[in-house]
Amino acid sequence: MKGSALAVIGGQWGDEGKGKVVDLISPSFDLVARYQGGHNAGHTVKFGDKHFALRLVPSGICRGGVMNVIGNGLVIDPRALLSEIDSLRAAGIAVGDNLLVSDRAHVILPTHALLDGAREKALGGANIGTTSRGIGPAYESKANRSGLRIADLIDPDRFRAIARPVVSHHDAVLKHFYGVEGAPVEETLETYIECGRKLARFVTDTSVFLHGELAKGRKLLCEGAQGIMLDVDHGTYPFVTSSSCAPGGACTGLGLPPSALGAVVAVMKAYTTRVGSGPFPTELKDETGERIRKRGNEFGTVTGRPRRVGWFDAVVARAALRVSGLDAIALTKLDVLDDHDEIRIATGYAIDGRPVSAVPARADLYERAQPVYRSFPGWKTSITGIETWEALPARAREYVSALEEIVGAKVGLLSTGARREETIVRPGTALDGWLKATVGQPA
Ligand code: GDP
Ligand code: IMO
Ligand code: MG
Repeated sequence: MKGSALAVIGGQWGDEGKGKVVDLISPSFDLVARYQGGHNAGHTVKFGDKHFALRLVPSGICRGGVMNVIGNGLVIDPRALLSEIDSLRAAGIAVGDNLLVSDRAHVILPTHALLDGAREKALGGANIGTTSRGIGPAYESKANRSGLRIADLIDPDRFRAIARPVVSHHDAVLKHFYGVEGAPVEETLETYIECGRKLARFVTDTSVFLHGELAKGRKLLCEGAQGIMLDVDHGTYPFVTSSSCAPGGACTGLGLPPSALGAVVAVMKAYTTRVGSGPFPTELKDETGERIRKRGNEFGTVTGRPRRVGWFDAVVARAALRVSGLDAIALTKLDVLDDHDEIRIATGYAIDGRPVSAVPARADLYERAQPVYRSFPGWKTSITGIETWEALPARAREYVSALEEIVGAKVGLLSTGARREETIVRPGTALDGWLKATVGQPA
């Protein structure tokens, strides 16, 4: 069991391409497990003429022979999970004995989503820009010990008894504080009980299951959602999500000891994006940003919102390295930078004229951070689909090598397009030993 799990996490503000990377490398693993978040995540997998935006189901689902686990650390809207399973099946992906759901994962109630929306509205211009899926309020219920778990959902009598006062309480809060009509209690309970009936076949104690599998020598891929800068502790609080996106979250969110984690890979874009509000020092609000947004198709997988766009930020990447102990970076979307004369990397910041080398705790201070840039000449030629390091233009290699040096971590995998095969796996890096020869090959 020692060291048989690899965690793939987001190294920036989410949407780095975790879905692509997890799908690509999952044939080298027996199990893929999500450990936090909920259907605020949107993980894109593309191969052949297929295109999936996975939300709760792990990105290993598109590969035969891989067991997919939704861990205890998630918050699950059962309606969203069932609808995702239905659409996967409709697209020809088998979902059955290859999926397990933790009995300890928490349930997102319709009132959680209503509370999310009402609070955002009440915050006005100071809102977080959440996905309004009820993620924050559901984690709040978990932490204040009024949450309902999947084990409760699949027992109708128990669910009716313990959910009724919770939904009624949410309804009262919605009405009195926000003037919002809540969810009809009895109807909500019956809808959820029906969902529970359909989900029951997938539900088990996934910590016990995973321990058993790891004891047999199986290999586990832990799939993070969101990213280090959206982590509730290490992100740009309060403009964060409500879970632990860092690798530590994989231990609590799956019920595994820290010693199970053998390596960590952070997925990072060759530039930066962020959806929603909050500080973003390298943001480009000009024509250059517009070009990157367009070429990178930077619109939210879940909400369709335009993503904010900026240069690669090495201060953020070093925070990911510090908190997560990166064995390798998976650098994605290098192809999106194909047509620039100049490409920049922020190596540090100045705040009120003073040099700063780490992200400050306070968002208002971070808003004042002015990036200090290093500049690189662009390669001005298409690299889409390139599959070897040697075939990249010299300037693209120079950019990646400088980025490695500035961050202090190696790029083990380089993505040059959205599809599986559009990837360079660099030999001799920490990822190597983990992957079979199948990596980089279309399924
Ligand atoms: P995730 O949430 O980290 O899984 O990332 P998303 O799927 O939300 O967003 C990443 C987007 O970039 C998706 O539309 C992917 O299809 C796309 N993508 C991933 N890697 C690359 C790449 O190397 N080049 C290009 N052009 N697109 C990519
Ligand atoms: P994946 O897994 C990018 C952002 C929201 C908002 C903040 C809080 O696809 O990378 P929440 O609904 O979680 O309370 O919203 O976090 N956010 C994401 N941004 N990618 C994601 O997931 C995100 N999940 C949440 O935009 O700013
Ligand atoms: Mg996403």
